[in-house]
Amino acid sequence: MRTNFDHLPSRKKTNCTKWDDLQKRFGCLSDADVLPMWVADMDFPTPPEIVEELTKRISHGVYGYTMVSDSFSTTVSQWMKTRHHADVDPSWVKFSPGVVPGIANAIQALSHEGDGVIIQPPVYYPFFSVVEDNQRKLVFNPLIETDRSYRIDFDDLRIKASRPDVKLMILCNPHNPVGRVFTREELLEIGAICLANDVKLIVDEIHADIVFKPHVHVSYLAMPDEIRNNGIVLISPSKTFNLAGFQTSAVMIPDAQLRAKYQRRSEITRTTSIGCCGETALEAAYNRCAYYADELVEYLGENKRFCEEQLSTRFPELTLFDLEGTYLLWIDFRQANIELNDLDRFMIEDVKVAVDYGHWFGEEGRGFIRLNIACPKALLVEAFDRLDKAMHG
Ligand SMILES: Cc1ncc(COP(=O)(O)O)c(C=O)c1O
Repeated sequence: MRTNFDHLPSRKKTNCTKWDDLQKRFGCLSDADVLPMWVADMDFPTPPEIVEELTKRISHGVYGYTMVSDSFSTTVSQWMKTRHHADVDPSWVKFSPGVVPGIANAIQALSHEGDGVIIQPPVYYPFFSVVEDNQRKLVFNPLIETDRSYRIDFDDLRIKASRPDVKLMILCNPHNPVGRVFTREELLEIGAICLANDVKLIVDEIHADIVFKPHVHVSYLAMPDEIRNNGIVLISPSKTFNLAGFQTSAVMIPDAQLRAKYQRRSEITRTTSIGCCGETALEAAYNRCAYYADELVEYLGENKRFCEEQLSTRFPELTLFDLEGTYLLWIDFRQANIELNDLDRFMIEDVKVAVDYGHWFGEEGRGFIRLNIACPKALLVEAFDRLDKAMHG
């Protein structure tokens, strides 16, 4: 491995959400002894090739208004081809300052106030607020819990999609927080249901690069034309290369009419302008750092195996759900001897590990935690020791 993922850079006092926002977010008196394993970014430095390109850009010394160049689109298209076997015409690609802002624009562009938007809880919590803040109605198609995994309730989806008020669905694939990587068959079925009911699909593929074998990420853009043309797909190098601070994402829209509507909306919301380093970072990542993505998945795979082993040997009362993709573990505490309403307090005050609480992802998530394992293994060792001590005395 070229990358040393065991090295923990100090992130405190860098205005870092994960490490510096603990007191506000979790209400703890001090953050000095809390291990932050919550928000989805990584405690790994970005690859040196990206630092090198950014250093070149920064040393130029002039940081005026910056445009999105054509190579932004060709780079994204190339990445989708080589990494995800999806043919993406560069003309389909639009810049967005983030995946969530892109989803907000898509909601505004493709639906009206009061329309219904389907989401599949337990799911990434900004999906709830981005729908409601835009005065659309949440329509739930909850995932069905199976043995340490989840499946889609297609019967329910058919009913919800056929409602006349429902115009959109937001799909998270790979799914945060349950860790599912949906199969081609599942995607085809979702796609066919949405198409048959004229429900447009917004597909958030931000975690696409982080998938564990034998699972394979199938992009919605690799679906048959008719199904694919009914969707909008969003990606970003932010998760894979730890670049969230550059606020640079890509929205891919095959259908010309949908694309024009999206484009107009992003002009209205003034979200077409890129920061002066965003494209530099994206292009360095996608053009020069595929090796890093491979190494990252390998390291995260080892972390995942370590957590599986820890949970099965030391915490028989907890259930770890299968992690097919993402670096976010979904852990079930419902059989543990902890009052469910006390789980949040227990994690932050007794264990002293900051995690995302399951109920943030919808009521279905109550009794779960989401643990971010994108960190040096030493931090995981420490986290499980703390959990053992707090749970078993
Ligand atoms: C599924 C999903 N979508 C979007 C985001 C955030 O994307 P952005 O910061 O580009 O808005 C995250 C971050 O955790 C995520 O997990």
